Amino acid sequence: PEIRVATGPLSGKHVIVTSGPTHEPIDPVRYIANRSSGAQGTAIAAALRDLGARVSFVTGPATVPPPEGVDVIGVETAQAMRDAVAAALPADAAVMAAAVADWRVENASQSKIKKDGMGNFPVLSFAENPDILAWVSQLTEGRPQLVVGFAAETDDVVAHATAKRLRKQADWIVANDVSPATGIMGGTENAVTVIRDDGATEWPRMAKDAVARRLADEIAKALA
Ligand code: CTP
Ligand code: CA
Repeated sequence: PEIRVATGPLSGKHVIVTSGPTHEPIDPVRYIANRSSGAQGTAIAAALRDLGARVSFVTGPATVPPPEGVDVIGVETAQAMRDAVAAALPADAAVMAAAVADWRVENASQSKIKKDGMGNFPVLSFAENPDILAWVSQLTEGRPQLVVGFAAETDDVVAHATAKRLRKQADWIVANDVSPATGIMGGTENAVTVIRDDGATEWPRMAKDAVARRLADEIAKALA
């Protein structure tokens, strides 16, 4: 068995990290997904581990492999991600970096949908998925001391992210501009603005690993 002797500013702390996209089935062979690679969440989990935290890494079907030395809980759908987060609680902090699908297919089929040969096509209807960040942020019992969310926006980044922080009651929101022109979605760099109760701080564009290390340092300070 693996024996971990964690030292560092986060030793003795448990942090839940969600990461990657979710897949929402249409039928047994098809699904709806998004462009998240899981790179930023994976880097955050590794950085928290490096500071000595015990990390529960709840990940959708990501492109990048999960880090070593964390507890990996692989899920497919948003509902399964919510259940996995519930099972991983309690935690000192939660970092919700997953690109959770906002909607699932309400009329998903148990068998493969076939072409009918007459040019008809299936009509999908949707139901809203549970908001995992809002739910954890608003727990009245057993809320993590620090809840960090992300906000992927394509315009008015700070305004949308500030509203999101208040609406969901997260402590911090790490906001970024995911317009295609930035190359951030699926890329190796990130340019984020961190929003807290005392205002917004713009970090310079840097490698996703560097964003992760800086965020882990700030989490360690907040939990100290
Ligand atoms: N999030 C979540 N569960 C959801 C949707 C989002 O936990 N069902 C989390 C994400 O992991 C992220 C934050 O909420 O930390 C913001 O996600 P985002 O998609 O930017 O916000 P939404 O509230 O879904 O708003 P919209 O997509 O309409 O901008
Ligand atoms: Ca969303």
